[in-house]
Amino acid sequence: MDSIFHAMNPTSIPLDRFNRDSQVVFFTGAGISAESGIATFRDPDGHWSKYDPMKLASQAGFREDPDLVLNWYADRREAILQAQPNAGHTSISDFQKLFKRSVVITQNVDGLHERAGNQTIYELHGNIHRHKCNSCGKIINLANENMRELKRCDCGGRVRPDVVWFGESLPRETLNRAFNAVQSCELMFSIGTSAQIYPAAQLPFEAKSRGAYIIEINPEPTPFSRKADVSVRDDAGSALPKFYEEFHAQFK
Ligand code: OAD
Repeated sequence: MDSIFHAMNPTSIPLDRFNRDSQVVFFTGAGISAESGIATFRDPDGHWSKYDPMKLASQAGFREDPDLVLNWYADRREAILQAQPNAGHTSISDFQKLFKRSVVITQNVDGLHERAGNQTIYELHGNIHRHKCNSCGKIINLANENMRELKRCDCGGRVRPDVVWFGESLPRETLNRAFNAVQSCELMFSIGTSAQIYPAAQLPFEAKSRGAYIIEINPEPTPFSRKADVSVRDDAGSALPKFYEEFHAQFK
């Protein structure tokens, strides 16, 4: 029977079902970066409560006002560069030392998983630290580039953030790898996602249908909560270190 825990209760997890060879997926959304000070999308103070996503995250919006779109992403990128990974991200690195066969599948474009030292990261929605040409598709790493000044590719096409916009497909290879990982995983943490945007939101359902044990961490309920084996109403930076302690005590 599905169970929902509104408070942290790690002892309810059947730890003996897992071992160091278990395949584990950390599936994350904007909520894991909230404690780093990065705004989410659908919370009351999230981006989509202030801005029209179709103006800022679609081809139509980019065609209508490319500077508005580029400046919005440049503002976000500058905020992200000032931010630091939080205890949620670093706990995943700790977990990955326990579970060598683990991957991170994220909808986030902020690069904080990588900065926290997480391994094998599948970025479903791209990465804000890259641009791509809207005409020829050339990828431009922004490490040393000023996003506000770079407006045209060598081919003359307009450049844009290498992130997935509404109406666009997810990167096929990355999506395939993510589904493969989910189909063989035994344990999934679904962390800080409202579980509303498909195909990413399909992943926890897919893992569940394949028999994985799913731990959801989110201060609010989501459309997936009732399917989760455990759904914890807590912040990622608070809950993940506690779960890590439980698993670590079992496997050390
Ligand atoms: P959302 O903004 O939709 O959801 C963020 C979730 O994080 C919410 O369910 C919050 O309750 C939860 N949350 C907030 N603070 C948290 C914390 N400290 N710890 C844990 N959870 C917390 O973000 P996503 O689900 O990532 O796509 O959104 C999916 C996609 O929609 C995004 O990748 C973006 C957006 O439009 C594109 O831009 C293509």
